[in-house]
Parts: sequence; C-alpha cells; structure tokens
Amino acid sequence: MSTHPATASIEAQRGLKIPRHIGVIMDGNGRWAKQRGLGRSEGHKAGVEAVRRIVALAIEYGVDCLTLFSFSAENWRRPPDEVRFIFGLLRRFVTSDLERLHDQNVRIRIIGGREGLERGLRGIIHDVESRTAANTGLDLVIAFNYGAKTEIVNATRAIARKVASGELDPDSIDEATIARHLDTSGLPDPDLILRTSGEMRLSNFLLWQSAYAELVFVEENWPDFDEAVFVRALKSYTARDRRFGGVRT
Ligand code: IPE
Ligand code: IPE
Ligand code: MG
Repeated sequence: MSTHPATASIEAQRGLKIPRHIGVIMDGNGRWAKQRGLGRSEGHKAGVEAVRRIVALAIEYGVDCLTLFSFSAENWRRPPDEVRFIFGLLRRFVTSDLERLHDQNVRIRIIGGREGLERGLRGIIHDVESRTAANTGLDLVIAFNYGAKTEIVNATRAIARKVASGELDPDSIDEATIARHLDTSGLPDPDLILRTSGEMRLSNFLLWQSAYAELVFVEENWPDFDEAVFVRALKSYTARDRRFGGVRT
C-alpha cells in the first residue's frame, strides 16, 4: 500500500482505492482528430496535453508508478511521417517538461528497444533517466518502441547467457529471476491497466507484468482524458474484488 499523505486523504475523502501502479494504453488520438476534421498529428499533439494531465493527477492522487504506452514496437507499421512526428513529440516532451518533472521529484524511466532509435534520441533518454534517477516521488515510465514479447525474448536471452557462462543455475530460475530481467525490473506490477478509445485488447503491453492487473476500458479518446475519466476508472478499480486465485472470507 502507498504511504503518500495525498493517497491517505483521497482514499478517506472519496472512498477510492489508489493503485500503486497504473499502466495506460493511450489510444484514440487519430480518431479524436478525425472527428474534428484534423490530421492525425493534431491528435497526437493533443495527446501530449493529456499526458501532462495524467502525470499531474498521478502525483495529486498519490500513485507510486505510472506507465504510459506511447509508441509500440508494432507502430513502425505506420506511415513514416506519422512515426517521425511521434518521435519529435517524445523528444520535445522529455526536453521541455524535464525541469518541471525533476522539480516535482519525478523519476523517469524509458522502457522499450533502444536500437532503431537515432543516437540523439538515445542520448536524451540517457540524460533524462540519469538526471532524475535519485528522485523519490512518482515513477514515470514511458514505454516507447516497446513490445512485451520482445521484452520477454530479451530477458530470456540475458538469462540464457548467464546460464551458458555458469553464472546462473537453471534450477534456480524462478518468477523473480524473470521479473528482474525485464525492462520494468524493480517496479511493482501494475494493479490497473487503463485503455482509452473503447478498444479492448492489450496490444502487446506489459504482458508478464499484467498477469493480475485489473483491466479498465473507457470510451473516451486519449486527448479527452481528464480528471473525470481518471476518477471513473479509479471507481471501477475500487469496486473490483481482487482475489488473486483465493476466496473471499
Ligand atoms: C494512440 O492513438 C497513439 C499511438 C498509438 C502512438 P492512435 O494513433 O492509435 O489513434 P487511433 O487508434 O488511430 O484513433
Ligand atoms: C497501442 O495502440 C499502442 C499505443 C497506445 C502506443 P495501437 O492503436 O497501436 O494499437 P492497435 O493497433 O489498435 O492494437
Ligand atoms: Mg490506436
């Protein structure tokens, strides 16, 4: 359970359970733009404002960890112009918001493949992570060029290399070993996975980590995400009976 003072007061005031870790599949930017007769880029731009809103809400409500799915390994299938635009937005977001997030004690981690990212962007990612590494507030995880199956493949390779070199006994491999070799090593598993835009699938997001997450799907497109949507998702989460295979006594 979280020990944030904010969490305690919001839990008491509104009767909401606050998940320690929320994973968000930020979907529907394109449809949001289309509904307004705008290009898809405008939807992605508006999506960045929604990112700022959810980060502020996570801090206010005392969430420990927030993982945002911002570009999937499969999103390379999109037109090159759109891919370039999304990369530009990430670059601008991490550089323009870094100081403010750092002042708010946010620790930033970017998960997903680094190969395929240009050197400049890799440098920015490295700087942002090292600059905020000692912060103790919200863990903000940005899943960029991320795919859960590839993450599991990479973990498997790393473990296999240790076995081959004699560093690791195969019989000692357990769930914790695998978790330690994933990009999310050290973070709690998500309690809540939220997806916007009415789609009901995981699209290769945090597959291992979501084994017991509560899934909440909302109809709003990502750029329309606000506190009302956030609170509705938390209410839905609060009403769930998390049994983890056991029975209620
Ligand atoms: C989510 O919105 C943003 C990314 C996947 C990068 P989409 O771009 O998928 O929007 P829709 O699903 O086409 O509406
Ligand atoms: C999932 O959304 C990826 C992100 C939100 C970054 P997509 O819009 O790419 O997913 P599919 O293609 O509808 O499954
Ligand atoms: Mg989509």
